[in-house]
Amino acid sequence: MITVTFVQPDDRRTLVNAPLGANLMEVAVANGIDGILADCGGNLVCGTCHVVVPARFQAVLPAQSEMERDMLECVPDPQPNTRLCCQITLEAAHDGLELHVPLTQR
Ligand code: FES
Repeated sequence: MITVTFVQPDDRRTLVNAPLGANLMEVAVANGIDGILADCGGNLVCGTCHVVVPARFQAVLPAQSEMERDMLECVPDPQPNTRLCCQITLEAAHDGLELHVPLTQR
């Protein structure tokens, strides 16, 4: 198990435990994280699993696929460190990861 923290635009924080190998979007949905709607179920067509990842965690995330990059061009107000959490499979290196839910997701 690792821990991941979701941070809401009002700075409300939710710390969740997640098993290694879990899909980050599914972890968010299972824990009722506000703003992670995941309407397409992880099929890269909705963009409603958009999170912003602080720069200090960028190095531990997998590289974006071309399909993720294309989808991120469609989310409202994308940031340089924006990701789709359905594209992240949790590994030990992700322990302590922090993810910010954008205001546009609320
Ligand atoms: Fe739809 Fe991630 S859940 S793009």
